[in-house]
Amino acid sequence: MDIVQWRPNYSTMVEEFDAEHRQIIGLINRLYNGLTNGEEDQALRDVLAELVDYAQKHFLHEERLMQRFCYPEYEQHKQEHDSFRNTIEDFNSLAEKDGSGLGMPLLKILREWLVNHILEVDSRYGQFFNDKGVR
Ligand SMILES: [Fe+2]
Ligand SMILES: [Fe+2]
Repeated sequence: MDIVQWRPNYSTMVEEFDAEHRQIIGLINRLYNGLTNGEEDQALRDVLAELVDYAQKHFLHEERLMQRFCYPEYEQHKQEHDSFRNTIEDFNSLAEKDGSGLGMPLLKILREWLVNHILEVDSRYGQFFNDKGVR
């Protein structure tokens, strides 16, 4: 069972970024299913490995496009990315030592990221990029 479903109102109106955001929703569901199926350790390892990669690539994609078009909220947006990158890296180093008990806190952080960043902060660039011809 999935805990989060993609909905049309999650769209940022930029196709590439929506596709990348679907990946994070996939990771949230994978972690949730791992937790409920008693496979927390494996799910945590898999999800963290992909998240470290996701955070690097996806954030860079957004940041590059913002810089290219001089997006006015670039600095504060990048700060949120940096802080999330650090959080994920901290989780990753903790999990390398001992991942037990980290699944639920990570799930909580990912769901908060979805609500507070993707649905709020990311959604603000949609119209701006559309006006520059990016869809
Ligand atoms: Fe994003
Ligand atoms: Fe973002």
